[in-house]
Amino acid sequence: MNIMAIYASHSKIVNRCNMELIIAKNYDEISDKASEIFIELIKRNPEAKLGLATGSSPLGLYQRLIQAYNKHEISFKQITTFNLDEYVGISRNHPQSYFSFMNENLFKHIDIDLDHVHLPDNDLSKIDTIAKDYNKLLRKNPIDLQVLGIGSNGHIGFNEPGTPLGNETFVVELDEQTRNDNSRFFGHVDLVPTHAITMGIKNIMRAKHIILIASGKEKSDAIYQMLYGEVTTDLPASVLQLHPNCTVIIDEEAARLLP
Ligand code: GLP
Repeated sequence: MNIMAIYASHSKIVNRCNMELIIAKNYDEISDKASEIFIELIKRNPEAKLGLATGSSPLGLYQRLIQAYNKHEISFKQITTFNLDEYVGISRNHPQSYFSFMNENLFKHIDIDLDHVHLPDNDLSKIDTIAKDYNKLLRKNPIDLQVLGIGSNGHIGFNEPGTPLGNETFVVELDEQTRNDNSRFFGHVDLVPTHAITMGIKNIMRAKHIILIASGKEKSDAIYQMLYGEVTTDLPASVLQLHPNCTVIIDEEAARLLP
C-alpha cells in the first residue's frame, strides 16, 4: 500500500463542519502528508505566502521541505513567510527564541530571501506598534497555507484559553500549563518567558488553507474537544470548526479518544 492509499483509507470529514481529518500511523506519516501539501502548493505557486509555526510538531515537515529543496524539487526564492508568534522578554538571538528556531530548523537551509521572512518582533518598548504593523502586513498579504500545532490546553499560536475569537496580533500572558509544556526547551519552567506576542485567532482564520498537525497522547484530549466539542474560547482550536478549509493530520495516539 503506498502512502496515499494509507491516508485515503483513514481520511474522513468530521463533525458538523467540513474539517478533513487524516489519521496517520505515526509522526513520520504526519510529516510526509503535511509536506506533500506544502510542496504541491509551492510547485503550483512559487510566490505562495506561508504561515509557519514553531514547536516540535512541524520539525518533520521542515526537514522534508529542506530535502525537497536540496533535490531541486522546489525553491523558496519568491516565497514569503509569516510566523505565528514569538516570546517576549528574551532577545531574538536567544537560542529558544522563535526567530532562532526558524533560522536553525528551516531558513538557513533553504534559498529564501530573508527580506521575505516575517516574525513578530519582540521589543517590549515598541510592542503596540509592532502588533499594529504585523496586522497591517498580514492584511496586505493573505496567507495561502498556514501550519498549526496545538497546545495540550488547546491553544493555537499562543492564543491561550479565554482569548477572544476576534483578536488580532496581541501580547499574551502565557498559561502555567503552556509554560510547563515548553519548559523542556528551556531546562526549567522559571526560565520560560511569561509573555509572548502572537497572531490573533482572526489573523489565523483568514488563511486560505490551514493544516493542524499533532502527535502523541498528550494532545488527545485537546484534539477530541477541537473536533467534537463546542466552539468555545475555552478551547481556542475549536474555532477551526468554522474554517472552510482546514485539514487536521494526527497520529493514532493523538486520535485515541475519537469515536
Ligand atoms: C507553542 C507554540 C505553538 C505550538 C505549541 C505546541 O506553544 N506557540 O505554536 O503549536 O507550542 O508545541 P509542540 O508542537 O512542541 O507540542
